[in-house]
Amino acid sequence: MTRVLSPQLQQRITTPERAATFVRHGDNVGMSGFTGAGYPKALPAALASRMQAAHGRGEDFRIGLWTGASTAPDADGVLAEAHGISTRLPYNSDPTLRALINSGEVDYVDAHLSHSAQHMWFGFYGNLDVAVVEVTAILADGLLVPSSSVGNNKTWLDQADRIILEVNHWQPRELEGFHDVYYGTALPPHRRPLALTEPMQRIGEPYLRVDPSKVVAVVETDAPDRNSPFSEPDDASRAIAEHLVDFLRHEVAAGRMPAELLPLQSGVGNVANAVLAGLDASDFTDLVAYTEVLQDGMLDLLDSGTLRAASATSFGLSDAGVRRFMDGIDAYKGRILLRSEEISNHPELVRRLGIIAMNGMIEADLYGNVNSTHVMGSAIMNGIGGSGDFARNAFLNFFLSPSTAKHGAISAIVPMVSHVDHTEHDVHVVVTDQGLADLRGLAPRKRARRIIEHCAHPDFRDGLTDYLERAEASRPTARHTPHLLGEALSWHQRFLDTGHM
Ligand code: COA
Repeated sequence: MTRVLSPQLQQRITTPERAATFVRHGDNVGMSGFTGAGYPKALPAALASRMQAAHGRGEDFRIGLWTGASTAPDADGVLAEAHGISTRLPYNSDPTLRALINSGEVDYVDAHLSHSAQHMWFGFYGNLDVAVVEVTAILADGLLVPSSSVGNNKTWLDQADRIILEVNHWQPRELEGFHDVYYGTALPPHRRPLALTEPMQRIGEPYLRVDPSKVVAVVETDAPDRNSPFSEPDDASRAIAEHLVDFLRHEVAAGRMPAELLPLQSGVGNVANAVLAGLDASDFTDLVAYTEVLQDGMLDLLDSGTLRAASATSFGLSDAGVRRFMDGIDAYKGRILLRSEEISNHPELVRRLGIIAMNGMIEADLYGNVNSTHVMGSAIMNGIGGSGDFARNAFLNFFLSPSTAKHGAISAIVPMVSHVDHTEHDVHVVVTDQGLADLRGLAPRKRARRIIEHCAHPDFRDGLTDYLERAEASRPTARHTPHLLGEALSWHQRFLDTGHM
């Protein structure tokens, strides 16, 4: 049965190949998609074919590609393989595209996710020519039922000159009612406070709006999201989870947090998922999440009742997680809410709600600066995503990583991070499999000792202590934050020599 109920938009139903003709070389294209959920399934491949054909004729055909966050091999991947992307923002995790970014072929603007919509509105990114947005259905009055992510879709639909809609029959029709899209955002100096004081409060409407006169094509698809499997928590992830859960208990006992904690934000990746499993095994109950992505671990928490409800902008489930969600979809309604990423990650709301933010990192240094994005200071891994939105404004933040990478060859604790995403002023607690360093209220030298003692792997502890002691003893450079600058950099060079770069 058709899911395109608007008579006006039924006239626009066409093939992906025909829809792709509405995208031209040099266009900025805003696509839906967030952590592999809700990205367009058909248009990118059709567009990539046109790009390859153009390149075969010796013509350039590349676009600026803007999304919610990461997409999938059949979106970012095919366009990267076609060498069809000139600029990309605000977040990527596709390996093919990552290689092109690191080679310098693609300009990558690694933006805070809460900034991406407003920077578009402020005019910082230029004109948006085309929006390509996946939806679950188009209602008779033209309203759009969003799909498994909301991301930046509201902004792309509002701002684009031309709109292509993909209606995906794979997305459960029952998704209607899972969304809350806020339309009250004004530009400075006319902004008003956001009237959200509870994580599950609705402040918007369940539908995306679209101006039908801008819709140039509607494509029907029936294709799954990219549902990546999660690896079973390994010993390091389990240890990280245990340290973190213990610490939360300690905070409750100290009277700094209520027994049901404060709203949780959990980042992307296997370590974050393992932490959720650790929470599920704990005695905490009646928790609530105000987060960005709902990974399988969040479903586990909802199913067990540890988590009362969760607000996010996207799913990020495995195949098994999707099946579980679809089987129990009616029971999740009212307990899961998907919002635009400008609202899920909004600094005002993160600060007001008092979020507990838990995010992965690549490395931390002795003074608590954190690198979430770059290997050896130069090669980007994914991007900052929402980690800055949450960490900077959180009630309490945690940065998590195994104490070593590459089978023990590289220490995640270093004298000076090779790239800074979160500064020492923003970082509260660093956690590795070795332990947890609570940095709150500590001056730099005390932080350094605590991080070495609690977080560094034993293989690297002596080297880090030796560095710190010599930095403290060096005259006249040892001041508030002692460093041996040349040596701090050559520490990374040592890892480079292990051949892991
Ligand atoms: N040096 C070199 N490589 C390192 C490293 C280090 N210090 N630390 C991690 N890596 C590599 C790992 O070896 C692994 O590489 P591989 O894919 O080749 O195996 C990769 O980085 C991912 O590390 P992993 O240990 O599997 O952790 P993860 O899945 O938890 O991801 C981040 C860690 C930092 C990459 C991930 O959390 C991220 O992208 N964060 C930034 C965005 C963010 O925080 N978003 C949250 C808001 S929702």
